[in-house]
Amino acid sequence: MTMHDDVARILLTEDQIQQRIVDLANEITTTYDGRQPLLIAVLKGSVLFMADLMRSLPIAHAIDFLATSSYGAATESTGVVRILKDLDDPIEDKDVLIVEDIVDSGYTLHYLRELLLARRPASLRIVTLLSKPARRRIDVTIDWIGFEIPDEFVIGYGLDYNEHYRNLRYIGVLKPEVYLRTTDPAA
Ligand code: PRP
Repeated sequence: MTMHDDVARILLTEDQIQQRIVDLANEITTTYDGRQPLLIAVLKGSVLFMADLMRSLPIAHAIDFLATSSYGAATESTGVVRILKDLDDPIEDKDVLIVEDIVDSGYTLHYLRELLLARRPASLRIVTLLSKPARRRIDVTIDWIGFEIPDEFVIGYGLDYNEHYRNLRYIGVLKPEVYLRTTDPAA
């Protein structure tokens, strides 16, 4: 058994992901012409996207990391998010680009946007590899979206189920029996 056996189907191949990242990097490069953006990855899911995106950017830039956590299921109804790890440095007057792996309800990005805007950056933009529009609960402006995907349980390329599958090079749909067998007390 390998992790691949738990994948029902591949939603986005490694090639599709990598090609899209090159396109995104080109657009981002044009937007920041003459500037040196600060890329902020939201841990943990966005580490692979961050690593590939920054290697596709020919412009000078800096990076930093943030970690957030939702208060479990409460996030779905209240949008409460908390910071587990804050940025290392101030962002005042910097051109900030938030790097996310996926936008689901939108609560995380909505919260982060407000938090970071209060620190008075010169600009604040958002790039996400994936977006699930069907799950959105709060409107959030996203500058670049890699792929809009259906409301399915996706894993791989940074995305996890119980901290597993993040290392897959593709994005796949998890077989239902994988999450049903651990949440069903009769299983
Ligand atoms: C995921 C993702 C976003 C957030 C999106 O992180 O990386 O940060 O959820 O969901 P939302 O739009 O409903 O707020 P997660 O909390 O799963 O942590 P992880 O990246 O460490 O896996």
